[in-house]
Amino acid sequence: MEWKGVLDRYFDYLPVESRKNIVSLSEGNTPLIRARSIEAKLNDDLEVYLKYEGANPTGSFKDRGMTVAVSKAVEKGEKAVICASTGNTSASAAAFAARSGLEAIVVIPEGKIAFGKLSQAMMHGATVVQIEGNFDEALELVLEISNNYPVTLVNSLNPNRIEGQKTASFEIADFLGQAPDYHLLPVGNAGNITAYWKGYKEYSDSGKTTRLPKMTGFQAAGASPIVDGKKVENPETVATAIRIGNPASWEKAENARDESGGMIGKATDDELVEAYRVLADSEGVFCEPASAASVAGLFQMDGTGYFEDGSVLTCTLTGHGLKDPDIAIESSKEPETVGNTVEEVLEVSGL
Ligand code: F0G
Repeated sequence: MEWKGVLDRYFDYLPVESRKNIVSLSEGNTPLIRARSIEAKLNDDLEVYLKYEGANPTGSFKDRGMTVAVSKAVEKGEKAVICASTGNTSASAAAFAARSGLEAIVVIPEGKIAFGKLSQAMMHGATVVQIEGNFDEALELVLEISNNYPVTLVNSLNPNRIEGQKTASFEIADFLGQAPDYHLLPVGNAGNITAYWKGYKEYSDSGKTTRLPKMTGFQAAGASPIVDGKKVENPETVATAIRIGNPASWEKAENARDESGGMIGKATDDELVEAYRVLADSEGVFCEPASAASVAGLFQMDGTGYFEDGSVLTCTLTGHGLKDPDIAIESSKEPETVGNTVEEVLEVSGL
């Protein structure tokens, strides 16, 4: 069967009124990959799956929400969209706007977004505005603009974004034939944990599943307002995607945590980079540093009694590793440079 994107697949669960307004890049239907090497490293006896959202058309989970937000904007006859972003939202907004003929304005913290993401927004023809400030300040700014000018906000404060992003839970449940026992994911602005929880609850309410996962979120230690219970004025982390000190969906994330009996924790940059490397080295899965927060959280909670033996876990890997090649190269061994002879290549190859 041809895959025509999340709105086509889950139309009845989503707010777009007419199929003719769908703007899609055939997003969704991303791989759910069994992580046997990671399972083998754990003390607990767990079945672990990676929901690899880097396989979306613009390389992150944002496409699931953006197809719905932009389709709704088209349905309402809007002309332009605006967002603040740590990079992925801007890449996705720019791509869907380009496809639909809408204008896109993206506001980003100067020097703090990964190069791959910046290149996407630029290539798709968005108006890219860099501010001398962080994501939280950029978000306040675009909120004010979208409240006063004819432009639609496509950050996850726009409920259509959450609606679209909940389809990742549907896919997981459809694939496993049941919801997992635990769902682990990074938390930044906290839209995605909100969306997953909504999706799992809707599937359970409609009788498609008979259990709900414990929602298990991880923030970066230098940007962990929810864990610490207070705003972070100057968030700092290697995981620039989740460098956020005042999440827009803060309360909703706490609600997902508490209703599900889960937790939100924090992982240090070292833990994030370690999980990022393990995923690439031992599973062959390249995600961006922020995405590895889910697996860093798994390693942190393994053996503590949090996970019940025999449980099924899903870990969302929110974005593709190619988004941020600088970090990949910085955290890897430098390639050998030798002369162009068989002997010299053999010498460094260990053959
Ligand atoms: N992982 C990646 C790769 C992200 O880009 C983001 C958020 C998150 C995790 C956190 O998701 O905000 O729903 O809790 N990126 C936003 C952006 C903020 O602008 O691209 P969240």
